[in-house]
Amino acid sequence: MATYIVLLGPPGVGKGTQAKVLAKQTGLVHVSSGDLFRENIKNQTELGRLAQSYINKGELVPDDMTIAMVKARIARPDCEMGAILDGFPRTPAQADALRKILAEFGDDVKVVPYITAPEEMLVERLSRRWTCCAQGHVFHELYNPPQKAGVCDIDGSELYQRDDDKAETVKHRIQVYLKQTAPLISYYREQGKLVEVDGTQSIEQVTQDLLAALRQ
Ligand code: AP5
Ligand code: MG
Repeated sequence: MATYIVLLGPPGVGKGTQAKVLAKQTGLVHVSSGDLFRENIKNQTELGRLAQSYINKGELVPDDMTIAMVKARIARPDCEMGAILDGFPRTPAQADALRKILAEFGDDVKVVPYITAPEEMLVERLSRRWTCCAQGHVFHELYNPPQKAGVCDIDGSELYQRDDDKAETVKHRIQVYLKQTAPLISYYREQGKLVEVDGTQSIEQVTQDLLAALRQ
């Protein structure tokens, strides 16, 4: 059976940061719906053009487009052993769709680490985040600075600040999360899959707690 892990939590809590470390440690593929949309925007695809207007406003991209994109990604052979899903599902309809998609392969979501942190901390993390334009590696000016300002330590590409990391948009993204994504907390808790992880700790300590959650 494959291992599908859903990382749940608000914008800026550290899903992308942790997914990259966990992917390395577990050998599972990191699938980020946000990264997939940004790749489409960069490549100027039709999907990218449609998604961009929602992303820039801090709104969710409609379920049908999002589900089709993630379904196609999961169907690729590198996800055969499973994946670490970061930012998907984000609505109950997406969670139901994921369940059906995985059921086609006789699989299901194994565990849902739910990373938490207070709103002030999320805003602070996102306002000083720098993202690598080649592969989406993330840094923070204070908490995880790159060795050389503006350059990714891992692949040497340029770092940029995401358009949707402006303070106003971040606040709206958090509201959207509370309204549309937070219902998934009880959805997965009722299935006995939710494990809460304190995201206010250091990056290393959060990783340790996540690895412990995966071993459970
Ligand atoms: P997406 O890219 O998924 O953004 P998000 O969920 O808002 O989350 P972020 O990427 O902003 O935060 P993160 O939790 O990954 O934190 P990170 O590790 O970078 O989605 C963007 C948009 O795409 C959405 O708004 C929507 O429009 C669309 N979209 C995506 N998926 C969708 C879906 N399923 N359905 C519909 N629409 C969808 O860390 C943040 C910062 O904090 C970094 O600087 C990092 O270095 C730092 N940091 C991390 N951990 C720590 C720590 N423990 N201590 C100190 N600093 C830390
Ligand atoms: Mg992210």
